[in-house]
Amino acid sequence: MRLFVSINLFDEMKDALIAAQNELYDRGVRGNFTSEENMHLTVAFIGEYPDAEPVLEALSEASFTPFEITLEGMGCFGDLWWAGIRESAPLAAVVRRVRRALAENNIPFDRKRFHPHVTLLRKASGKVPGIQMRTISMTVSAVSLMRSDRGRNGMIYTELGAREAEESTAE
Ligand code: 2AM
Repeated sequence: MRLFVSINLFDEMKDALIAAQNELYDRGVRGNFTSEENMHLTVAFIGEYPDAEPVLEALSEASFTPFEITLEGMGCFGDLWWAGIRESAPLAAVVRRVRRALAENNIPFDRKRFHPHVTLLRKASGKVPGIQMRTISMTVSAVSLMRSDRGRNGMIYTELGAREAEESTAE
């Protein structure tokens, strides 16, 4: 199984991402646009791993309380174009806790520096134009373990389980 841990996005945020994709398309940009159901923020990429159970166990050790994420700008890694997610302390903390829990449970993952982004398209043509992205925020209340399978028409992501946020004790 090919596994990764992600933050799945609310429809309102996906709507803003689709609007951005449409604007790119209208400006002549071509490539493999991410479908709405596949839009997510990767927290940790595990890759090939035989069993989901130990990964879910590890995730259960990564506690966090609900926090906000906000879309911010666009950028690229070569021909992979993305919408940015604003760096924030609670987001960095969740990523750190998830990755530490994986490491402590000997589950391998890609240790590249976390760069919060949502992939909009791959194999893009040309240069990223400066398009206006709606400033949308959402509350993150879970991180999900996802399985990735190659489908006939692209990747299919399936949620295998989730680590829910703990209730905030602010009051
Ligand atoms: P992305 O986060 O840039 O979109 C499933 O493959 C998800 O894990 C994709 O969203 C992919 O890219 C992300 N990912 C992160 N690191 C990866 C890696 N080393 N190999 C493949 N996918 C990776």
